[in-house]
Amino acid sequence: MSLNRRELIQKGTKLALGVAVGNSLLSMDATKAFSQNSDKTTSAKAFPAKFLWGAATAAHQVEGNNVNSDNWLLEHLPHSMYREPSGDACDHYHLYEQDINMLADLGFNAYRFSIECARIEPEKGFFSNAELDHYHRMLEACHRRGLTPLVTYSHFTVPRWFAFQGAWESADAPDLFARYCEKATTHLGDLTAYAATFNEPDLPYLFRWITLPGTAPDSNLAATMAAQKSGIRQQLNAPLFSSFLIGDAQKSRDNMMAGHTKGKSAIKSARSSLPVGLTLAMEDDQPAGPDSRFAEKQADVYGPWLKLAKQDDYIGVQTYTRQRIGLKALPPPEGAELTQMGYEFYPEALEHTIRYASKETGVPVIVTENGVGTENDARRVEYIQRALAGLKRCLDDGVDVRGYIHWSLLDNFEWIFGYVPKFGLVSVDRETQKRTVKTSATMLGKIANNNSL
Ligand code: BGC
Repeated sequence: MSLNRRELIQKGTKLALGVAVGNSLLSMDATKAFSQNSDKTTSAKAFPAKFLWGAATAAHQVEGNNVNSDNWLLEHLPHSMYREPSGDACDHYHLYEQDINMLADLGFNAYRFSIECARIEPEKGFFSNAELDHYHRMLEACHRRGLTPLVTYSHFTVPRWFAFQGAWESADAPDLFARYCEKATTHLGDLTAYAATFNEPDLPYLFRWITLPGTAPDSNLAATMAAQKSGIRQQLNAPLFSSFLIGDAQKSRDNMMAGHTKGKSAIKSARSSLPVGLTLAMEDDQPAGPDSRFAEKQADVYGPWLKLAKQDDYIGVQTYTRQRIGLKALPPPEGAELTQMGYEFYPEALEHTIRYASKETGVPVIVTENGVGTENDARRVEYIQRALAGLKRCLDDGVDVRGYIHWSLLDNFEWIFGYVPKFGLVSVDRETQKRTVKTSATMLGKIANNNSL
């Protein structure tokens, strides 16, 4: 079957088809960075010293013209499942400096962004120093403005050549990823404060728990996505073509887990003190009814990754909503407020996933994404306030949380949904590329600046 975008949106499928302060940050190693955070504060509303307050972006969603990526290709297929192509996106590739300045001016102290493998290694084994220098300049801009940079090495998109050879299904994917990690860290590692190998590598398994409306009860989104693969291969005349979300979930997971381990060693061999982790898409799963398969879902989707993360320096938690689980995932309760993605408006989800990730891994938690798709910024303000109240309860109970990075800095390219969902603290006029700061940005920036609710 072909994907119906409206259905996807309605049902809320989680689809995602310094130089100036250099001395302090450059010398920061994992141990030091983490121990700094254990300072206790006196005010009931205050956060720990050095708490990271930031916003996040991902290269493909904001940079524009990521023409060597698998996604660009998929967006331009005649029967594309993408609502629209990414095009110039937010032209962050050229406007990064003003965006970084804006984030700092708002009061934040951290910026999470991804480096684009399709730019850095546009042909297999060919690494572009010019593109690596581009990301080096972005990191310098962060340091000039006192922003701690958190760098994601792979946020969904891959180079075309990698997709043509089977993407994460291919047996040499872990070694190829490790080589890329080594090159990137050698070039950028001295300015990077936190590295994440992968963004939400658990997503394909999460999709196995989502049933689309109008499809067979035993079908799931992962299978629906995978069913697109043969048509895409035919259109491209590329028999091995694959991509993160249409790949064989099990093969891809095995290779990404190996890729994480090898990638982490490559990063550490280039810069041993750099804290490395990965980020997970985590719904706040809640059991519903006596036959709930809740525990089964948690073991299936998060289990192996949380186990792997026990060896890491931190775990990135990315949460948007809750999911009630009966025999399968249930729709939001009758009458619940829904976001633009069709998710239940449920900011308390964050508190629960932080506690779960912390308990399961025992490593420090950084909230690397949390946010809400809405045209109504007043709802974003409320969402953030309630999510942060939950995060604060975690801290008060002694849970080791090191930062809150909001998704997203800018209204950006929301994968197959195109530019419709608005997750940004800042809106973007895509004709003029003019940025307009929303109330939520000012509000969260103030909290960041005060380091207190
Ligand atoms: C992804 C982002 C995406 C966001 C909102 C996360 O799953 O990491 O790329 O834009 O959710 O849908």
